[in-house]
Amino acid sequence: MDTLQALQTRNSIPFLTEPAPTSEQMQEIYKGALRAPDHARLRPWKFIEVRGSSREKLANIFISASKKLNDNLDDEDIDKLRNAPLRAPMIIVLAANIKEHPKVPKIEQIISLGASAQNILLGLHDMGYAAVWRTGKLAFNPEITHELGLEDNFEIIGYLYVGTSTGKEKPIPELDVNEFVDVWDE
Ligand SMILES: Cc1cc2nc3c(=O)[nH]c(=O)nc-3n(C[C@H](O)[C@H](O)[C@H](O)COP(=O)(O)O)c2cc1C
Repeated sequence: MDTLQALQTRNSIPFLTEPAPTSEQMQEIYKGALRAPDHARLRPWKFIEVRGSSREKLANIFISASKKLNDNLDDEDIDKLRNAPLRAPMIIVLAANIKEHPKVPKIEQIISLGASAQNILLGLHDMGYAAVWRTGKLAFNPEITHELGLEDNFEIIGYLYVGTSTGKEKPIPELDVNEFVDVWDE
C-alpha cells in the first residue's frame, strides 16, 4: 500500500478478533511510531503492549482505579470494566512520559504521543490489521497511571485496541476538503 492510500483508507474498527500482529511486526510498527515529530527530542513516548491473559491484569487495573475514583460502581459497571480489554486480542496503552522543559510544554509532548499513535494505526492498517483508539474515564486518570506502576509524570492519553477486523466495517465518510482548508496565496 502506498503512503497516501494508507492515509486515505485507514478506518477505525471496534469489532476485532485474532490474530493480533506478531511481535516482529510490532517491532517494525514501533519504529514508525518513534518517528513522530518530537520537539527537543524529549521522546515522550511509552507504549505498554498487553496481550493474552495479561488483558485480565489490565482489567483489574481498570477496576481498582475506577473503584478509587467512584465508590458507587455497581456489578454491571464492574463487568463492563472486566470485559473492556477483552474486546481485542491486543491493547496498546499510550503513556506520555512528560518531562519538564523550558520550551516544550506538556501539551506538545502529548501531541507528539498522539502523532506516534496515529503512526501505529497507519502501520497496522498497512499490514492489514485493524484498530481503534479509545479513551473515556480510563484515560487522563492519575489512578490508572499509579496502578500501572508508572511514575506520576506519566499521563495515559488512551488505548489502541488492536486485532483483525471481523469484517463489520463502517463506510469511510467522504468529506469535502474545502470545508476544512483555507488557502492564502496572494
Ligand atoms: C483521542 C481520541 C480518543 C477517542 N476515544 C474514543 C472512545 O473512547 N470511544 C470511541 O468509541 N471512540 C473514540 N475515539 C474515536 C475513534 O477512535 C475513531 O476515530 C472514530 O470511531 C472515527 O473513526 P475513524 O477514525 O475511522 O474516522 C477517539 C479518538 C481519538 C483521537
